[in-house]
Amino acid sequence: MNIFIILLAFVIGGLCVSSSRQANTGEGPPHPVCDSHSTVNLIPPVAKSVTDVTPLLHGAGVPEGACIFNPALVRLSGDVYCLFARVYTASVPEKRCAPGHRDRAPFLDGWRGKSTNVMVALRLNQRNNSHTLQAEVLGHSYLGDSNLEDGRLFKDTRGRTFVYLALPVGVFPDRAVINSVYRVYSRCSRTSKRCILSLRFPRALTYTGSHNVMDKNWVPWNGTQFMSFSHFGTLGPQSIFNWVSYEEPKPHATFDMVTEDPLFRKLGQRYGSLLHLGGGTPAILEASRHSYLAVGHLKAHPGCFHPEMLPAWVDRGWFGQQVAERTQSRCSHLVQSSNDTTRTEVLKEAFKYRHGDQEGIHYPLEYAFFFYRFNASPPYSMTHISHGFMPYTWRSAADHQGILFPVGLERFGAEDYIISYGDEDQRSLLLRMSSAQVEAMLLPIQEMKRRLDEFMVCTLPCEGLGNCDV
Ligand SMILES: *[C@@H]1O[C@H](CO)[C@@H](O)[C@H](O)[C@H]1NC(C)=O
Ligand SMILES: *[C@@H]1O[C@H](CO)[C@@H](O)[C@H](O)[C@H]1NC(C)=O
Ligand SMILES: *[C@@H]1O[C@H](CO)[C@@H](O)[C@H](O)[C@H]1NC(C)=O
Repeated sequence: MNIFIILLAFVIGGLCVSSSRQANTGEGPPHPVCDSHSTVNLIPPVAKSVTDVTPLLHGAGVPEGACIFNPALVRLSGDVYCLFARVYTASVPEKRCAPGHRDRAPFLDGWRGKSTNVMVALRLNQRNNSHTLQAEVLGHSYLGDSNLEDGRLFKDTRGRTFVYLALPVGVFPDRAVINSVYRVYSRCSRTSKRCILSLRFPRALTYTGSHNVMDKNWVPWNGTQFMSFSHFGTLGPQSIFNWVSYEEPKPHATFDMVTEDPLFRKLGQRYGSLLHLGGGTPAILEASRHSYLAVGHLKAHPGCFHPEMLPAWVDRGWFGQQVAERTQSRCSHLVQSSNDTTRTEVLKEAFKYRHGDQEGIHYPLEYAFFFYRFNASPPYSMTHISHGFMPYTWRSAADHQGILFPVGLERFGAEDYIISYGDEDQRSLLLRMSSAQVEAMLLPIQEMKRRLDEFMVCTLPCEGLGNCDV
């Protein structure tokens, strides 16, 4: 009996080890696939589709070979949406973005080329017999004179469209940002099916209460004059600005409201610099009208989720390897194998990332998304949060470079959401999910607080190969 159990354990252990080894050779998705164990729900966490709109944006007056990424998204009216994206043109042709090439990330060019932006009006429909989206460009405006970096599109209380920007000033290490909003002017003609887009006046969003000159990724609440501040590394506690109006935003020295939730303090204490949570998309009101939903971005040390990248000071013996193989979706093994001194060294180690024999394929950090929800009435407390996830685009681990950045959250039809995001700083993609699928990802904050050690990043599966084959 005992021998039988031991043998069984060996067989099962062997299977687990070989399947995770396989994932590490570059076959299969870069991270474990999200499954229903990660939810409190019976609906599996899955995406309906992922659509690449980059080829379409190339027609929007951007330079040949430009990378178009980190798209913000807001609905203008009906099936017409506005998209605001970053554009990067490498200085030499060999380093420019090209369809089918995923190794042209601007960071590999040292960001020495030209950074600009583009604004596009798109009509979005469901492609026949598929969950993927069909997009048509109705108008565009290439903003080729300056670098506005990542925009967040949203509407104010009166339904007027704005873009929130953290304008970069200076160059590293003397770099800072100026948080601001611009009114977006759009006019679409029904008869010609064309739209005209332009940016109107900029307004500074002044906050003097922080010493960090890089405070950005603030979270506009669509349909309001509120934003939440993104605390560097922890996102929360939920700290709210009421700008009163985006035409004459009220300068702030303090927040208008703060709701302290121990989750964020505990996350910070547990993971330190290994995991950073920050703002991603604007927040939008959910169908119940009782809560807002937003997608945040998560940045992590790649050793958290790529066990082959464990820094040198982690136990690399047989036992250490077993732990690493089994914990490749989690970060707690890094916390356990370090002390405060070594933990501060961890981000430096991250820059030595290698995947197998390929060098410099992965960005020094791992990026992922997470959902969170907060009440729509004062004190606007956060109630739910999800684990980290990244879209599964049927790409193998060897192709995965780690940069995924959510910028827009909108509705599509009555039931679905679209998350617009940048892929490897090279492409602009739209992820479609139903509200039930989003619900399946969300955990009550109390539950997450109890499960801090289990905080993980998984690959969100897709409803069918054809729907996410991008
Ligand atoms: C889907 O098919 C219908 C009927 O054949 C057609 O009218 C419609 O334009 C198609 N939609 C798209 C997005 O191709
Ligand atoms: C955003 O806010 C406007 C009100 O200004 C509203 O009409 C629109 O439906 C909101 N969008 C979403 C996705 O909730
Ligand atoms: C932390 O770990 C390092 C490397 O193993 C070691 O040199 C150092 O003494 C440790 N610090 C503490 C406070 O234990």
